[in-house]
Amino acid sequence: MLAAIGSAVGLGNLWRFPYIAFKNGGGAFLVPYFVALLTTGIPLLMAEYAFGARSKTGAPHAMRKISPKVEWVGWWAILTGFVILTYYMAVMAWSWFYMIKSPSIPWAEDAKGYFFNSVLQISDGPMQIGGIIWPLALATLATWIICYLITRWGTKSVGAVVKWTVPLPYILLVILLVHGLRQMGSIEGLIYYLTPTWDVLTNPQVWMAAYGQVFFSLSLGFGVMIAYASYLKSKEDLPWQATFAGLANSATEFFAGFVVFAVLGALAAVTSVNITEVVAGGPGLAFVAFPMALAALPFAKFFSFVFFLMLLTLGIDSAFSLLEAATTAIQDRYPKFRRGRILFVLCLIGFLIGLLFVTNAGLYWLDIVDHWMNSYGLVGVGLAEALILTFLLGTKKLKSELNAHTIRPVGLIWELSIWFITPIALTVTIILSLKGEFTSAYEGYPPIALAIGGWGIWTLTIVLALLLQKDKMKWAKLLGFLLIIGVVLVAMFVSTALAMGLFGSIVLAGGLLWLLAIDWLKRKKLSPKSATK
Ligand code: PHE
Repeated sequence: MLAAIGSAVGLGNLWRFPYIAFKNGGGAFLVPYFVALLTTGIPLLMAEYAFGARSKTGAPHAMRKISPKVEWVGWWAILTGFVILTYYMAVMAWSWFYMIKSPSIPWAEDAKGYFFNSVLQISDGPMQIGGIIWPLALATLATWIICYLITRWGTKSVGAVVKWTVPLPYILLVILLVHGLRQMGSIEGLIYYLTPTWDVLTNPQVWMAAYGQVFFSLSLGFGVMIAYASYLKSKEDLPWQATFAGLANSATEFFAGFVVFAVLGALAAVTSVNITEVVAGGPGLAFVAFPMALAALPFAKFFSFVFFLMLLTLGIDSAFSLLEAATTAIQDRYPKFRRGRILFVLCLIGFLIGLLFVTNAGLYWLDIVDHWMNSYGLVGVGLAEALILTFLLGTKKLKSELNAHTIRPVGLIWELSIWFITPIALTVTIILSLKGEFTSAYEGYPPIALAIGGWGIWTLTIVLALLLQKDKMKWAKLLGFLLIIGVVLVAMFVSTALAMGLFGSIVLAGGLLWLLAIDWLKRKKLSPKSATK
């Protein structure tokens, strides 16, 4: 269970949450966020715990036990997590960079310029890839090697070390906050962070961001929690553990938000601009705000070093949780391969893919891939899981697993969130925000970048998942499916967003008809009349 919390608390809390909250309206974001956490995050976390504890294997195999046809959902989870891991490592590389530079805090004068120009050496757009930034590439390599070694030999001992670092983030955040609050303007920052505005509640993109963040941060939809729960031997109080993990994890990021918004408020006061415009939001936010706050502290060098070291330790147990889950899943599927070899190949592939994120255009690609992997990857997996657990397995079985050793049994409310609230909320959110995707290009990026880093990689995770499934999807079906996707992608290259939306829906509808037609033909072939012939 400690491992599960170790997986949940990571860069998602300190790096991702603040910029997602900032981008989606500050206080306005908190309402959808907490709704998503309470009605989907924690209930689904309970379901993943119970499902893993019950099936005692990794996600794909556990799905397979329910029905061979849904095994791919387990693979989809693992693959989505793996793609996320490739850019997660790039963020860890930034942390390395700052940690190593902390003896001289070179960002003290201009934290923003330092991050974008010296660390990232950022280009003008995703298509200006430039070259590989070698210090960052070396740092990702180091992180992959460390994660390899730990997953291979030391999850136990590292777990013990990591346990000792648990209070560290809180101590550092308190120091930063207390110091930050003495700066002029910081209170305005907090007011912006904590004042909800109700009109954004009608914006599906904000809801999608909230669900995505809850999934990312709780390590939901990665297959990680299913794998970890499958190792449970003793009789644990699952509902309580899930509630605790969910609340503790969110409390951490909520708190990290205080620090970042206090800094933004102070910065707005100094430069006398509106807080919404004080920095360009996006994945760089935390790496501007935290260094700025750190540089203002007494003993800045010491605190900077400790802070970035702490970020690395937070990230490492999240990273190896996914490596573990992926290795176990592959080993279940291909018992002939040796564990060490699987792990090595995974790390190598991950490192190579991740090189994209340490080029001059790395940050743009990270932004795009992150958006798609969270919104349509993790949230998509979550929806599929809720449907499978409800309609194929039945919530009754999970409920009895959850309530076997608890003092506070879950009841109707939990069941209602799994089979009713979650599927409906996720379906509506996915459909409405997909519509937005077609009508305007995400962050104004060129369509070709979105087609590759967004739709392309997302499709690839699904296709690979289908290929990894033991019972192969019929080739005709798969081919049809690929064809649909191919046509949509080609269309994406040549058309504007709006035309693409119309065209895409027609093609998708055509594709669905194709699948239905194949099913119909198959059924006709199998019908008794033709069988007797
Ligand atoms: N939950 C992690 C975080 O908040 C994200 C993560 C989970 C990353 C699993 C990799 C694997 O940082």
